[in-house]
Amino acid sequence: MNEVKQVNGAAASGSPLKKVVLASNNAGKLREFAALLGAAGIELIAQGELNVPEAEEPHPTFVENALAKARHAAKLTGLPALADDSGLCVRALGGAPGVYSARYAQLAGGEKSDAANNAHLMSALRGETDRRAYYFCVLALVRHADDPEPLIAEGRWHGEMLDAPRGTHGFGYDPYFFLPALNASAAELDPAVKNAGSHRAIALRQLLARLTEEA
Ligand code: IMP
Repeated sequence: MNEVKQVNGAAASGSPLKKVVLASNNAGKLREFAALLGAAGIELIAQGELNVPEAEEPHPTFVENALAKARHAAKLTGLPALADDSGLCVRALGGAPGVYSARYAQLAGGEKSDAANNAHLMSALRGETDRRAYYFCVLALVRHADDPEPLIAEGRWHGEMLDAPRGTHGFGYDPYFFLPALNASAAELDPAVKNAGSHRAIALRQLLARLTEEA
């Protein structure tokens, strides 16, 4: 395994954030987050570039998982770290698949894939008339691994579950997630439109506002 790279110039608690490691190797998330944080003068580095392995997501809440991922990346790199945890919460299913969205079908004995998750969700919702759902995202930013005051932000993107897929963009549950206000599924939206209005975008704007307040 490659050695984890420590980065010089890590911000100590209280100092301005210039360089932040993103506790994810998802290229799409890096692009989305880098664009918004770049405007605030923050350079974002993917943890994979520093040879940081993916952290476990063992917790029952989004915020605990996001914090664990951020602390893991900060501990290994010596840099401030940003992590997100997200999922789809369906009203008629008591908030499921929720924090287990990525492994929804797998936890029921199926495979770990978007197709299996969507099939499992559709069968859970068969005959259900309450189709309300939202995507939820929690962001956690720690200035260092033991930061006692992590910045936490969250975003909800409300919609309704379809019973047949629409659109080819996006990922995960997007073809089944309908936005009445836009008259489109998330997978029918231009990616730039999704990235500007999604749960992640809402949470990131909240985080940026908190950072600006702090500065
Ligand atoms: P993670 O936060 O990247 O671990 O995402 C958790 C899971 O939630 C994903 O694997 C998807 O199943 C679901 N999810 C989170 N955000 C989205 C989204 O924007 N579109 C579709 N599915 C999503």
